[in-house]
Amino acid sequence: MNILVTGGAGFIGSHTLIELYKAGHTAVVVDNLSNSNPVALQRVAEIIGIPEIPFYKVDIRDREGLEGVFAKHKLDACIHFAGLKAVGESVEKPWEYYENNIGGTLTLVDVMRRHGCKNIIFSSSATVYGDPVEIPITENCPKGQCTNPYGWTKSMLEQVLMDIQKADPEWNVVLLRYFNPVGAHQSGRIGENPNGIPNNLMPYITQVAVGKRKELGVFGNDYPTPDGTGVRDYIHVVDLANAHVCALQAIGRHCGIGIYNVGTGHGYSVLDMVKAFIRVNGVDVPYSIKPRRAGDIATCYCNPSKAKAELGWEAKYGIDDMVRDSWHWQSQNPDGYPEK
Ligand code: NAD
Ligand code: UFG
Repeated sequence: MNILVTGGAGFIGSHTLIELYKAGHTAVVVDNLSNSNPVALQRVAEIIGIPEIPFYKVDIRDREGLEGVFAKHKLDACIHFAGLKAVGESVEKPWEYYENNIGGTLTLVDVMRRHGCKNIIFSSSATVYGDPVEIPITENCPKGQCTNPYGWTKSMLEQVLMDIQKADPEWNVVLLRYFNPVGAHQSGRIGENPNGIPNNLMPYITQVAVGKRKELGVFGNDYPTPDGTGVRDYIHVVDLANAHVCALQAIGRHCGIGIYNVGTGHGYSVLDMVKAFIRVNGVDVPYSIKPRRAGDIATCYCNPSKAKAELGWEAKYGIDDMVRDSWHWQSQNPDGYPEK
């Protein structure tokens, strides 16, 4: 298939491009580069072994721009990564998050349907479960109250896309609820490249390890978990990328609506991650215990068996691979990608 990849220059998008080409698909990338660097796409093309990935610097809110892309390319499906994703920033700038994520997606799906492209895989998040009523979380677990506007954009967009599919059954909508993506491509050429101070655990750990930050703050050690620190379902980004390739097969089977958890099913604590990072990479990560971070929950991990049964997808990489590949990327690219 020829796939429109929105947000393809970003962390998960860039890794997904590689797996798409490996599986025999081709891609066209649309990204406004608000949180990414075109060097990532050059490196993706090098890894795949093609001269370049077709790329348009277009904002998904720009109807004309998207029309231009659809006029030039016959596109079979869209993998929709484009969106703003910083939880804390979304609390400060709710309008910007709703306008970008929801406004952008509404424009995108309208242009798609006008061009007869009615297949979409959407990047959703475990955040839609709120404080989950069951652990491990299955897809039957009810959605919950999100603690921030970013989370609400994911929850609302799931509803928007399901309603669109219900009204027009020609659509296939796959909602992938990601747990905590970490790691990087084994080449060390592409990886996570956050602007400023990282919000998320793994990029913070790697920046401490590489000497860019003094120490990791561990947000709370009094949660009801085995060691008191928060437990999450970390998933290697290459495994996550492959889940999208498997989801395309569901679209090929005309699945209608498909909702899948994408995680490993294993919960690791903050200290499990820090200790694994030190053990596997042989570098120190100084840390100190800090107060809990507002909005965090104690434990979040999934039951991924629905994705295995229906998509034939399961995670192949474990915690040692995740910490090794995160460090490989960061140690080879201490300042991330070179300036745009
Ligand atoms: P990322 O920021 O690296 O990638 C998102 C890309 O979208 C960036 O390249 C950015 O420039 C682009 N973008 C943003 N707004 C755009 C717009 N209006 N028009 C065109 N391009 C736009 O983030 P990521 O970690 O790769 O996440 C990809 C998707 O997965 C996002 O939708 C995110 O919300 C979702 N997700 C991420 C995580 C995570 O922890 N990384 C967890 C759950 C869900
Ligand atoms: N943590 C620290 N110190 C840090 C950063 C994080 O102790 O500097 C802890 C957190 O308290 C939490 C765990 O590490 O216990 C993971 O935190 P992250 O910020 O890496 O990830 P979250 O689970 O909070 O959130 C992530 C994404 C969200 C997404 C959610 C569910 O950032 O976008 O997973 O998919 F919604």
